[in-house]
Amino acid sequence: MGETITLLSKREVEKMRRAGQLASQLLDYLAPMVQPGITTQALNDAAERWTRSHGAKSAPLGYNGFPKSICTSVNEVICHGIPNPKQILKDGDIINIDVTPIVDGYHGDTSRTFFVGTPSPVAQKLVEVTEECLRRGIAAVTVNGKIGDIGAAIQEYAESHGFSVVRDFVGHGISNIFHTPPQVPHFGVRGKGKKIRPGMVFTIEPMINEGTYEHILLKDGWTAITKDRKLSAQFEHTIAITEDGVEILTLS
Ligand code: MF3
Ligand code: CO
Ligand code: CO
Repeated sequence: MGETITLLSKREVEKMRRAGQLASQLLDYLAPMVQPGITTQALNDAAERWTRSHGAKSAPLGYNGFPKSICTSVNEVICHGIPNPKQILKDGDIINIDVTPIVDGYHGDTSRTFFVGTPSPVAQKLVEVTEECLRRGIAAVTVNGKIGDIGAAIQEYAESHGFSVVRDFVGHGISNIFHTPPQVPHFGVRGKGKKIRPGMVFTIEPMINEGTYEHILLKDGWTAITKDRKLSAQFEHTIAITEDGVEILTLS
């Protein structure tokens, strides 16, 4: 990853808009399938079929060797959970599904955390706070503002509820490249960091933990879990900065 932030043309932002819309529609399609008894592999296979049938490709598949088409991160998994035919969802689980279809060369990246059946009170609170963190992070984005404004808003809200913000995984610039500058931390200080300008397109994807923000990487080289095995939740949108302001490309 270099240092230069590429500013996208209107034509490129239009391609990002189409990819973002397909990504959001894919999550809408998967949402009702999240029920006790389904495997994460079945969710993966449904996502892969749907993506292909809509003329798109799954960016995660083969990305730096990632073996599946989507990420499925259950309970203590922070991110990059690998779908598995042996992993059966059960009542009370939470699962983040993270999808990134490539449409006409451009990436739409979005994720949501779903309840499997009935959540525990703490799971419900964590997921609600995490979704609100994403909302507040997006609301903190302004043309000529700073990247640090985003993390400050998210960290303030998460910590006010006694939760922690993951440090080691961040939002990112996105275009015809999956992960590109700038990095978008979900913690930080208002007024710090790179200036936010028209033509920038990046993700905001806070991972919020019930306990410690520290993670352990499993031996599969991908799955990041909380060090204390407590819950983690995440929501992600891809946003574009245009002359008119801030546009959420992956809105449902
Ligand atoms: N979609 C994830 C993100 O939000 C990246 C997944 S990379 C993979 O950045 F290789 F794990 F799929
Ligand atoms: Co992302
Ligand atoms: Co993602």
